[in-house]
This record gives sequence, C-alpha cells and structure tokens, in this order.
Amino acid sequence: MTPEELLKQISQEVAICKKCVLNHSRKRAVAGEGPANARIMFIGEGPGFHENEQGRPFVGQAGKFLDELLAGIKMKREEVFIANVVKCRPPGNRDPLPEELAACGDYLERQINIINPQVIVTLGRFSMARFLPTAKISEVHGRSFRLNDRLIVPMFHPAAALHQPSLRPLVEQDFSRLPQLISQPLSAAAPAPDSTEQKSLEQKSEPKQLNLF
Ligand code: URA
Ligand code: SF4
Repeated sequence: MTPEELLKQISQEVAICKKCVLNHSRKRAVAGEGPANARIMFIGEGPGFHENEQGRPFVGQAGKFLDELLAGIKMKREEVFIANVVKCRPPGNRDPLPEELAACGDYLERQINIINPQVIVTLGRFSMARFLPTAKISEVHGRSFRLNDRLIVPMFHPAAALHQPSLRPLVEQDFSRLPQLISQPLSAAAPAPDSTEQKSLEQKSEPKQLNLF
C-alpha cells in the first residue's frame, strides 16, 4: 500500500473505532489530515465542538489561530500534517484520560511512522508528554529537542493563548522562531530528556541538515 492508502486506512479504522469510551459521545472521529510526505507534523490534543461536527482537525477558533500562526511563517496548513493525541472529542472538551490516550496512541504512532516527519510540533501538554514526558511546558516551549532523528518542538496550545491573552505573544514568538530551528542541523538541538535513542544520530559523521525553509 502507498503511504496515502495507509493513512486512509487509519482514518477508516478510527471512524468506527470503539477502543475507548470516547466513541459513545463522538459525532465524527478526527483522524488528522495533511500530505503523507509532510515534513512537519503538528500534534494537538483532541477534537473540540467544531472538529467533532466536521471530522477535521483544528477548524474552530484554535484552528483559525493556528492558520494565522502558520501564515506568519509563510506556511499553509495544506503543507503540514495536523493530528491529535485522541481522535474523538472528550465530552465538554474535558482533558483526555490516561486510558483514552493509551487506547488511541497506536493510531498516532502509525501515522508518525508512515509520514516520518523531520519535525513534530507538539501543541499543549498532552501532546508534549508523549515525546518529552518529564518536560515542563513553561520551561521548554519554543525549544527544539532531538528524538529518533527528528526534531520535537513543544509549543503552548493555541487555545491556551486564546483563553489566556498573556500567552499570545509567547506563542507568536515561538512560532516565529520555528523556521530557524528547523533549518539548523539536527545535532544543534539538545537530546530529548530521558531519551535513550540517540546513539544512531551521535554516530553519524555528517550533521543532518533539515532544510525546510
Ligand atoms: N484543539 C485540539 O487540540 N485539536 C483540534 O483538532 C482542535 C482544537
Ligand atoms: Fe478509538 Fe481513539 Fe476514538 Fe477512543 S478516541 S474511540 S481509541 S479513535
């Protein structure tokens, strides 16, 4: 199967998935969307009201802000893959529960393996915790970490900046630095805390250039 077909298969599985209780309250599951060969993947938390209605990620207020942030760095959402750590809306937009994150994690893992992005931008703490389990968002936001030959860049969730206006300049500043972070050699990024999977990278003689911009 082609990467596109593999991603489509995941969307079809997610649409009828009953692996956690979130299947009872969802209208439409939101697998995620974007090109199978996207170099950058944005990973949010879970569908909200509008995403649940439309079956598409980040189409509500937070999504509009995300579009603006992307436009600010001359990127379009069509160029990136956008997904979430849970594919069905938690009732009332509550936080996803550990058992829901665990049940849904396999879909995201398969998407990451198929797309094999050079950069993963995590939006919010649930997404960050998947890659940087010991990191604190207030300390690490906007920095880059290498993990399995990829760059992980944790960011505040755009919705957090909408609820807490003081965060907005920080989010905008972090986004504006993304092109520069991405164009640096992978070796310039700090290893992800707690990661034991850095050996292959350290052994490479040539620094790997992530030339996206
Ligand atoms: N917030 C998220 O985390 N994901 C979406 O898809 C929409 C809002
Ligand atoms: Fe399945 Fe994930 Fe939806 Fe739970 S949130 S029902 S695991 S697709």
